[in-house]
Amino acid sequence: MSAPLPPVLVVDDEKNMRLSLQAMLGDEGYQARTVESAEEALALLAREKFFMVLTDAHLTGMTGYELLSRMRTGHPEIPVLMITAYATPKLAVEAIKAGAIDYLSKPFEPEELLHAVSRCAERYKLLKENARLRSQSSQTIEVNQIIGESPRMVELRNLIKTVAQSNATVLILGESGSGKELVAGAVHNLSQRREAPYIRINCAAIPEQLLESELFGHEKGSFTGALKQKLGRVEEADGGTIFLDEIGDMSRPLQAKLLRFLEDGSFSRVGGNEELRVDVRLMAATNRDIIDAIRLNQFREDLFHRLNVVQLRPPPLRERGRDVLLLADHFLRQFNATMNKQITQISVAAKQKLLSHRWPGNVRELRNVLERAVILETSNEITPPSLPEFHMETRLRKSELPVVPSGQSIDEVMANFEKEFILNTLAQNRYNLNRTAEQLKISRHALRYRMTRLNIHTDNEEDVGSPSGKETTQQC
Ligand SMILES: Nc1ncnc2c1ncn2[C@@H]1O[C@H](COP(=O)(O)OP(=O)(O)OP(=O)(O)O)[C@@H](O)[C@H]1O
Ligand SMILES: [Mg+2]
Repeated sequence: MSAPLPPVLVVDDEKNMRLSLQAMLGDEGYQARTVESAEEALALLAREKFFMVLTDAHLTGMTGYELLSRMRTGHPEIPVLMITAYATPKLAVEAIKAGAIDYLSKPFEPEELLHAVSRCAERYKLLKENARLRSQSSQTIEVNQIIGESPRMVELRNLIKTVAQSNATVLILGESGSGKELVAGAVHNLSQRREAPYIRINCAAIPEQLLESELFGHEKGSFTGALKQKLGRVEEADGGTIFLDEIGDMSRPLQAKLLRFLEDGSFSRVGGNEELRVDVRLMAATNRDIIDAIRLNQFREDLFHRLNVVQLRPPPLRERGRDVLLLADHFLRQFNATMNKQITQISVAAKQKLLSHRWPGNVRELRNVLERAVILETSNEITPPSLPEFHMETRLRKSELPVVPSGQSIDEVMANFEKEFILNTLAQNRYNLNRTAEQLKISRHALRYRMTRLNIHTDNEEDVGSPSGKETTQQC
């Protein structure tokens, strides 16, 4: 996701030179604006954005050198390339000392100029992208944003705080939507590298052939389409952290290169021979069963051991007990604020419904459920009808056989299931017993009997359908 590139500003008092520079840049896909003097350039720079300035050293009026020195104070982030007719090493040194990024003497080869421009374009994109990622990662800084008071979540937060202080490689394993990306962000933001870049790459989202060049960069001409040299994301991440998401989807040849990189921080760009080295902390995550992937020969065991220095495992939401409710409250507050609603709480029956669901999509699913509920709810509390019919989704996953939790007998498991099922059907029918019984294909009497046996009580015992639609089911 690279930011659009603003134009190059060309400053030259010779019309032909301006036109030929504009054409040369235009042919390479750069936009160029041209002005005749340094004065005009400064006026334009105050109003518009440019990614670099190309200036002749000798201009009528203010010289290129003066323009350069004004720019160093007024626009220090914009690189300036100086062009002059007088090629003396002394002048070159002077220009560079004054802060020019490079110095070209006329006549020059178009490639020389284009190479310098392309480096500046690359630098601009990297700076922008870094700024974008930094602003994003600063939104997910705090470890307290990882909500949950269940013992495993408390332990996870403590572990994050401890490992953040080290440079150890971190492997984050967990089901989809369980918070792996949040955990990675928290580790980086608590580490000493927090001010340095935090680069995230989703290995599954980038085509296999491009992932290597994305990670390690490429040299110009190394493959069709490699028109310019490209720095790797590992170079961008120098001094900081790189997070490889969905690492389980990385191809085996690239796994070998990553292993070498992990061993000593060394790598070569695609098509390059030079051995480069950076100082990067690596974190990786996957929702695949990594041991399974090793057994299937899809993931290198040696790489797994290299990555697995510290393992962080956000547990599935269904194993976090009442954290479901803490998270639901958190998302309720969040969506209330963004949607300008005043829903104050979640009804007891809705809470029961949330607690009895298996959450295959984990926290992400819960977040979506709350978002939908806040949109649908018309009263001042979240009630079961605003929640999805979870049992429908359970049927969709009927190939997944439920596992009997340890310590429970099959009778207990069946009773829990029956209770969940009846509660959901009641909610669906707005606690009208006749309609619920009809849907369950049992008599109203049989339904009452089962509800008593399963300890399900509704407030509106004489259920003629509550016109307000406000039901509070209580489970003793
Ligand atoms: N403990 C938590 N507290 C608050 N929000 C959370 C928590 N865990 C996850 N979330 C939120 O849930 C959503 C999903 O989390 P995240 O993207 O980190 O999951 P993931 O494990 O990386 O998923 P996937 O495997 O699909 O990439 C995000 O919006 C995240 O902010
Ligand atoms: Mg993720």
